[in-house]
Order: sequence, then structure tokens, then C-alpha cells
Amino acid sequence: MRRVKLSFAGLEIEFRDRDRALKQVEELAERGTYPVYVVYGPEGCGKTALLRQAKDMLENEFGYHVVYVNPIAEKIDEILQFTPSVKDIAKEVLSLFPSPYSMIVDVAITIASRVMKRFSRPRVAVLMDDIFQAVGVDKAEIYVKTLLNLIEYPPASYEKIVVLVTSSEGITRERIGRHRWATFRILWNMPKKGFEELYNAIPVEKPSFEDVWRWTGGNPSMLAKLIEANWGRNLLLEEMVKIRRLDVLVKNLSDEELALLKQVVEDPDALFERLREEASQNLLNKLIELNMVIEIWDRDPYFWIDEPPPEKDLELGIGRYVAWQTPMHREAVKRALEQVA
Ligand SMILES: Nc1ncnc2c1ncn2[C@@H]1O[C@H](COP(=O)(O)OP(=O)(O)OP(=O)(O)O)[C@@H](O)[C@H]1O
Ligand SMILES: [Mg+2]
Repeated sequence: MRRVKLSFAGLEIEFRDRDRALKQVEELAERGTYPVYVVYGPEGCGKTALLRQAKDMLENEFGYHVVYVNPIAEKIDEILQFTPSVKDIAKEVLSLFPSPYSMIVDVAITIASRVMKRFSRPRVAVLMDDIFQAVGVDKAEIYVKTLLNLIEYPPASYEKIVVLVTSSEGITRERIGRHRWATFRILWNMPKKGFEELYNAIPVEKPSFEDVWRWTGGNPSMLAKLIEANWGRNLLLEEMVKIRRLDVLVKNLSDEELALLKQVVEDPDALFERLREEASQNLLNKLIELNMVIEIWDRDPYFWIDEPPPEKDLELGIGRYVAWQTPMHREAVKRALEQVA
């Protein structure tokens, strides 16, 4: 299988590892998705990278007409991408919208509909990267419903359809999980072996792999940030505290929530064990909304894209029911606690 090239900390790196995820993409390509698949996971765990690789596989190995959008991509040519077969339709649709890039999700859905009408029983894939940040979480539900309509009530018949949506927004699951419109899968940070492969492929001077693993928990974006900060882990943590206003979070906690947060930096399951208490529920919601922790609702590999994280690994901040997105997220909260206390 061909592996796509990705940009990583100013370098060009080939897509690594994620073997189980790629097998899962193949299975989806063979049978299509129903309902919409929402892939949710820690910030920077590799959702965009996986969608890029999936796009390549779907179009080159499985003959899909693919439309991919990433409304928050930095470069304009990365906001909308499509298979060459779709070029004319995309041009047509782009010209229908007065400012297409501000409505790129609608543009992509319109392109997919026209592909169904224009080709005879085509294979169509719609890959939506991080659209909820762009359309607003309040509109997330309606867009997922629109995508489900495309599957259930297509404007013309298709052979197969694959609809994948990614999100790193903590409240996605709460908003969308209550409907039958989507099924959720979590993509975790990279497993140790795969992450080591990525680490070895980076031609820069670096601390030992074990240290990097302990700091990042296999999160490729955190690795890139550390490289860009020349391994200045302290500065990166300070920045996380400031940008995410973790000091403000800590200052505004009730005494009960504060005491609980101190336990949570040691063991995130402390939140779950006391979930019947209001303070615990409030704190969990705040930490989810700030994209600091993720609630793990099932360990069955069925609910995961790629490998689930270890059952419980307190060094990495992973509990049975709740996990810090990365050890750096936990460290940043620890810092904020130290600064405010
Ligand atoms: N399997 C992989 N092999 C090689 N590089 C990867 C892999 N996964 C991710 N990366 C690289 O790591 C960085 C972070 O990954 P990516 O942007 O895909 O994460 P993300 O989950 O989409 O992040 P965000 O939550 O910010 O959207 C990128 O530079 C990406 O190219
Ligand atoms: Mg992304």
C-alpha cells in the first residue's frame, strides 16, 4: 500500500504505522459506512493524517470519487481536495456559491450529490475533517443529519458511500451521540511501537525515546511541538497554561472541585468514581470542554479506530474510564495548580 507524504515539524514524513486503522479503512471501503462515522480523538493524535491516507486509498485502490474538506486548513488548496474525476463538478459547484470557502461543507455535500447524478452508480466518499470547529458545534447535529440524508436518501443511486467526519471537540459526543445519525469511533494517540517508528524517522537530535514517550504519550503533534520548541518542554507547558487559561480555570473552581482536580492529576478515574457528585460531574464537563481529558466509554476494540490505549497507565495519565489527552495536558494542569495554590 502506498503511504502518503505528510508535513511534520517542517519536514516531509511518510504516513507511519496505524496498521489496524488502515485495515478498518479497507473494510469500510468494501462495505461503505452506515450511518455517518465520526472519528473523535485527542487533539493532534493524527486524525487529519489518517483522513489523508484514507483519501489516497479510497481513490487509488477502491475507485472512489472522493471529496475531502478541512475548513480550518492553513493553506487554501488544502481546504477542498477531490479526485481528478470530480474536477469539473467541483468547478461548477464552486461557482454556484458567492463565497464558497465560507460554506465549504455545503459545497462538498453538493459536489457529492452531483457525483451521484453524473456518474452511473458511483462509489462516493465524503471526508470531513474537523468541520465542527468551522460550522460551530451548535450546527454539528444538522450537518451530520444532512450527511446521513445523503446516505439514506441519495439524489441518485450509488454503488457505495463512505462518510467519515473527524472531530476533536470534546462536546461532539454529547451533541451527536444522542442521535442514531452517527456512530462514534475513537482514534487514540499512536501506539508505542508505531510512535517509535515515527520518532526514528525524524532526522533531528532528540532526547531518548523513553523520555519522549513519557512526555507525549504517542501524540504526534506534541512531538512536533517539542521539536519546534527545541525540546523546551517547560516553555511549551507555560504556553499551554496561558493559551488555555488553565490558571483561570483553577482559580474559578469550588473548594471541592479543586480538591478533586488534585486527585485527577494523579488518577483521572477519580472523576468517574465520584460521578454521582455534582462537583465531579462539573469538573469532568469542564475538562472535556477544554479538550484536556477524554471519557473512555468502552474498551472493546470495535469502538476504536486503530489500537485502543493501554487499559490503565497512570504514568501516561490514562485511566480505565477517563484519560488525559496527553501527559503534557496533565502536566499543564499540574503547573496551573502549583501557580494558583
Ligand atoms: N501516522 C502518522 N505518520 C506520520 N506522521 C503523522 C501520523 N499521524 C500524524 N502525523 C503528523 O503529526 C502531526 C499531527 O497530526 P494531525 O494533524 O493529523 O493530527 P489531528 O488529530 O488532525 O490534529 P488536530 O486535532 O489539531 O486536528 C501532523 O504533522 C501529521 O502530519
Ligand atoms: Mg486535524
